[in-house]
Amino acid sequence: MPALITVTQLSKTFQMGRQKVHALDRVDLAVAPQTFSTVMGPSGSGKSTLLYLLGGLDRPTSGQIVVEGQSLEAMDENALAEYRRRKVGFVFQSFNLIASLSALENVAYPMRFAGVPRRRRLAVARDLLQRVGLGDRLLHKPTELSGGQQQRVAIARALVNDPALILADEPTGNLDTASGQAIMQLLAELHHHGRTVLVVTHELRMTAYATNTLYMLDGRIVSHAEYEAATAVANPEPVSTSRSA
Ligand SMILES: Nc1ncnc2c1ncn2[C@@H]1O[C@H](COP(=O)(O)OP(=O)(O)OP(=O)(O)O)[C@@H](O)[C@H]1O
Ligand SMILES: [Mg+2]
Repeated sequence: MPALITVTQLSKTFQMGRQKVHALDRVDLAVAPQTFSTVMGPSGSGKSTLLYLLGGLDRPTSGQIVVEGQSLEAMDENALAEYRRRKVGFVFQSFNLIASLSALENVAYPMRFAGVPRRRRLAVARDLLQRVGLGDRLLHKPTELSGGQQQRVAIARALVNDPALILADEPTGNLDTASGQAIMQLLAELHHHGRTVLVVTHELRMTAYATNTLYMLDGRIVSHAEYEAATAVANPEPVSTSRSA
């Protein structure tokens, strides 16, 4: 099966004064369609940067991203915006909901830019909120919802244009364990319905939902063995305090 996404020698460098930060360093990656990948790596290893570039939210310094045969590099700003709108659903750690709008209006909002009439927008939004289990919270504002509920609104919003690709950057990072698990189950369900899902997570048990896991270190994708070796040093086993007889 041809890859949905092919990444070749992808680099992103940030110039901070006289210092260069290599957020991504010549990453090669192929993402097969209808897979569920978790992305793991220490803070600063380039996970968010990778997701942003895949989602067309930012441009690489060098290298290529090809999605369904289309090179993001070749797209102008309009084409890239169209790509984001049609192909990608992005879920952020901090939900990014509009505080003054209800759950229903938050989900309906992005459809404005796709030229969907208001009645239809609200009908689609209601349907999506029902699907994420919030049919009884349509008129609640973000502050009137729990963290897990806000994240479910954000997921419903990410689904409005029926994207093939769902990118989630630590979607459970601000949630308690039970809410986090519910979000991962929801993402797993989307995967079972044929979407391709990439989720950045720090939580090892979230990898149970994944078909594969990507490990990142210092802007590179590394093997599991290399990752284990590097992180084992960073996270030594806790010293046992129990006295053995
Ligand atoms: N806009 C920016 N300007 C300068 N440096 C940046 C910028 N964005 C990211 N970086 C740097 O690039 C590196 C990778 O950042 P990134 O946000 O991708 O890490 P991450 O793996 O998502 O970390 P975390 O787990 O903390 O979210 C970091 O060293 C960061 O400081
Ligand atoms: Mg990040």
